Formats: sequence, C-alpha cells, structure tokens
Amino acid sequence: MREFNIGIIGLGNIGLEVYKNIKKNSSDIKKKTGFKLNILKVSAKNLRKKRGIKIPNKLLEKNYLEIIKNPKINIVVELIGGADGIAKKVVFDSIKNKKHVVTANKALIAKHGDQLSILAEKNGVNLLFEAAVGGGIPIIRSIKQGLIANKLHHIYGILNGTTNYILTEMEKRNLNFKDVLKDAQKLGYAEANPTADVDGHDAAAKISILSSIGFGTKIINNGFLVEGIRKIEIEDIKFAKDLGYKIKLLAISERLGKYIKQRVHPCLIPINLDVANIDNVTNAIVVDGNPIGRTIYEGPGAGKGPTSSAVISDITSIMLGNDEFSFGLSPSAKKNVHLFNFNNHISKYYIRFLTKDVPGVLSTITSNLAKNKISVANLIQEPSNNGNANVMLITHFSKESNIQRVLKNLNKQKKLFKKIVMIRVRDLKKL
Ligand SMILES: NC(=O)c1ccc[n+]([C@@H]2O[C@H](COP(=O)([O-])OP(=O)(O)OC[C@H]3O[C@@H](n4cnc5c(N)ncnc54)[C@H](OP(=O)(O)O)[C@@H]3O)[C@@H](O)[C@H]2O)c1
Repeated sequence: MREFNIGIIGLGNIGLEVYKNIKKNSSDIKKKTGFKLNILKVSAKNLRKKRGIKIPNKLLEKNYLEIIKNPKINIVVELIGGADGIAKKVVFDSIKNKKHVVTANKALIAKHGDQLSILAEKNGVNLLFEAAVGGGIPIIRSIKQGLIANKLHHIYGILNGTTNYILTEMEKRNLNFKDVLKDAQKLGYAEANPTADVDGHDAAAKISILSSIGFGTKIINNGFLVEGIRKIEIEDIKFAKDLGYKIKLLAISERLGKYIKQRVHPCLIPINLDVANIDNVTNAIVVDGNPIGRTIYEGPGAGKGPTSSAVISDITSIMLGNDEFSFGLSPSAKKNVHLFNFNNHISKYYIRFLTKDVPGVLSTITSNLAKNKISVANLIQEPSNNGNANVMLITHFSKESNIQRVLKNLNKQKKLFKKIVMIRVRDLKKL
C-alpha cells in the first residue's frame, strides 16, 4: 500500500488543527514516511459551523458511524473528548472494525485503556495516544521506545498547564486564586468549568497513563490521592518563597517493590529542584530509571499546535509500520498492582492556620502536634486582616496518618481557627 486514508472525528480546537497541519505538511509527511496521507472524511457535531477554513463538501460526513465503517479508512482519529459517550463508541467500534486509532483523549484512556489495549491487540491494530499526556512533549514514545532498556522507578512532574499558569500568576501578580482563575478563563487558559484542571483530575488521568506505561502495570484510575489547588492562597506562596520553596501541582508515581505510590497534590518544592522553575502553561516530566538515571522532558503541555504535533506523530508512526503496543508491552504482560497505603506516606508538611484573636491558639496547635509525634522545624506567626493571625509551620518528617489526625482535631475547633491549609513538602532525600 502506498497510501494511508484517515477519518477525523471531531473538528474542535485540536481536530481542526490536525486537519490544517496535515494539509500544510503533506509533502513532508510523504518524504518522511514514504506514504501519501489522505484525509478521506471528517465529522463533527454541527457540520454547518463556521470554522474559518473551507473543507471540501465531499470530505464532510454527517454520521460519524459511516467513518468507522468505511472500508477505505485505515486510521480513525478521535478528537471529540470525554471518557464515555460518543468518543468511547468511536474508539471501541473502530478497533472492532480493525481500524488503527489515534486519540488525544486522556479521560477515555485512563478509564478504558486496559480494555482497549486488549481489544487492539486482538484485532491486530494500533491504539496510540501520545497527545493525551504532556501535549506536544513526546513523553509516551520516549518512555515506550527511548527508555525501553530501563527499569523505571519514579515518574513525576507538572502535567497540567492551567494550574501551573494560575500558580505562576498568583506569585507574579500577588493575586489570589479566584482572581487569577477569572483572568485565565478570559484568556482561554482555563475552561468555563475548571474542575477537571483545578481539582487535579486532569493531572490524575495523565499520571495514571504514564504510570501504567512506565511500570508495566494495569492502570490505577481510582483510589489514589487527588488534591487540587483551590485551597492555596497568596500567603502560602509568599511564605513558601521566604523559606526557599515554590508551590507546584505535582503528579507523582513511584514503584516501591510490589506497590505503586501514585498521587496528585500541590507540593512545596525546593527552588533549585528540577521542576521548580517550570512556569506558566509549560509542562515538565521527570523520569528516573536504571540504568539511565534521571531524565527530564519539558515543553508545551496543551494547546492546538503542540497537541496536533503529537496526534500527527502517532498517525505517521502507524504509517511507518511501528507495530507499537499501546502501553509499551503486551496487555497480557501487564501486572496487577497494589496501591501504596498513603496513610504510611512520610513527608515534611507545611501547615498554615488562619487563627482568631483568642488566647490558647498556639498552645492548642503545639500540644496537638506533640501528642501525634510531630515536631516542628520552622514556625512563623504574622498578623492578618481583622485581628486574625496566620501561624505557618513546617514539620520535620512525619507520617501522613498523624498529620491527618491533627488536622481533623483542629478543624473541629471553630472558635480558634478560621482556616487550615496543609501542603506536603517535596524532599527528594526521602520519598
Ligand atoms: N484543547 C487542548 O489543548 C487539548 C490538549 C490535549 C488533549 N486534548 C484532548 O483532545 C480532545 C479534543 O479536544 P478539543 O479541545 O479539540 O475539544 P473541542 O474543541 O470541544 O472539540 C470537540 C469536537 O468534537 C465534536 N463532536 C462532539 N460531538 C460529536 C459527535 N456526536 N459527532 C462528531 N463530532 C462531535 C465537536 O463538534 P462541533 O465542533 O460541531 O461542536 C467538536 O468539533 C479531547 O479528548 C481533549 O481532552 C485537548
């Protein structure tokens, strides 16, 4: 075969850009792969929508089911989105119809990736999703192919551009979360419903995928800690800075023997740590393994240009005949995995108490910490507005379950505390 025919389902931000970039670069693609790439059909919900470019009528397909059944189409490109619904039907049915599938859909892959990869192997087709993690950064192919000779033990990084942008702007402009979120929505960096980003679910889906690929395990897509950035205030960012830290939302996965310790939460990270100075919408992923050691991948984590670059890379990989396993190994070789009990996590903890101006606050904090075997490394008290005060401390290494007990006790004391914020401190000396 000297030609490949694709059908693109979904012509939104990403689908349209993939369409344009394939058209623009078709002669390069032919030179680099040896094959002609034809876009045979495209589909969207509303084919009458103005999209700023002229798409020939003969390409427009009203019913997406016709694309996944079309015998001339080799590759279906799913760019609708969502873990279930139409996107799920498109991907499952295309594979059953023995079409290769390329998707950017992290929610779908994190939820159904194990089942889909089995189906793809059974039907002798590829299911590729480079664009689902890290936008334009070729992190999936780097792990699957570039690092194939390694046993990985640690993958972590900044996997969500929206939250990284918000945290960067809070620091730069001395603003609170809600104000920066509003600006980010106006600028198109955050969605009208920002939940998936700001509450950590987007980063969680991405680390679920990377962890499964990196450690050769079945996907862990629930039951692990997922915390977002809503609770973080400018005081936390300033205090962290004074002590030599930055606050970042990290997605982290470690292999600890037969356990995987996977989680998403904000961290205070030392200012000189590899990902500390990755700002704005940029993503960065650190992958640590043997024999290579530590590697770091940085780049634009979302947006139509970078994401279309990753989608087209998957399409051309299929054209080049790279018979890749979706997750880097045969689905039957993927191991079942135990999730580490996070109550046993050991970390330093940052805690800020917004306290009322009443006697006994400090002694209540310190006695509760002592009762739970938690000692304090730094403590600062600063007046806040309206006679309240901020008490901010960083603990020595402590156990998560002990910290949670303290927070539960103190959160009940409404007469003393207006708000308590806890953020884990990242210390690579002890993980
Ligand atoms: N945006 C990013 O920066 C980014 C980055 C990485 C990955 N992704 C992933 O890429 C995927 C697409 O994202 P996006 O931002 O391009 O979304 P989007 O702009 O909302 O586009 C979704 C597209 O799906 C189409 N669609 C909806 N229902 C359909 C149906 N029943 N049949 C056919 N088409 C249908 C819509 O048609 P209409 O246009 O007619 O409404 C629209 O063209 C998602 O999985 C997302 O997670 C996005």
